[in-house]
Amino acid sequence: MKIKTISILAAASAAIAVMSFSAQASGNADAGAKKAETCKACHGEGGAKPIQAEYPVLAGQHEDYLAAALQQYKSGKRKNALMNGFAGALKPEDIRDLAAYFSSQPSELKMKY
Ligand code: HEC
Repeated sequence: MKIKTISILAAASAAIAVMSFSAQASGNADAGAKKAETCKACHGEGGAKPIQAEYPVLAGQHEDYLAAALQQYKSGKRKNALMNGFAGALKPEDIRDLAAYFSSQPSELKMKY
C-alpha cells in the first residue's frame, strides 16, 4: 500500500516536471506582442487580419507550427522573399515569443472537419 502511494507520487511529480519543462520551452506571449509590431504591417492586428487575402492568418495557429515555419524561413529551408528576410533577423527566443503571442490571439482559423 505504502509503496503504491509512493510510486503514484513519483509518477505525479515526474508529470509535473515534464509540464514545467514544456512551459519553459514555450515562449512568452507578452514579450512576443512587443516584437510583433513589424509583423502587423502584413499579417494584421494580432495576426488575424492579413492585408492581402493570400497572406496567412497567424492568430490561433498552433504555436509549434508557427515556430517551425519561422525556423524554416530563417534557415532558408522554406523560401519566401519577404519572410526569409524578416525571420532571418529573429533570435531563437524571438521566434518562441512571437509563436506564443500569435497562437494566443483570437482568430477565425478553424479545422474544416
Ligand atoms: C511584408 C509583409 C510581411 C511581413 C512584414 C511579415 N510577414 Fe510573415 N508572411 C508574409 C507572407 C506573404 C507569407 C506567406 C509566405 C509563403 O507563402 O511562404 C508569410 C508567412 C508567415 C508565416 C507562415 C504562416 C503559415 O501559415 O505557414 C509565419 C509564421 C509568419 N509569416 C510570421 C511573421 C512574423 C512573426 C513576422 C514579424 C517578425 C512577419 N511574418 C512579418 C508576409 C509578411
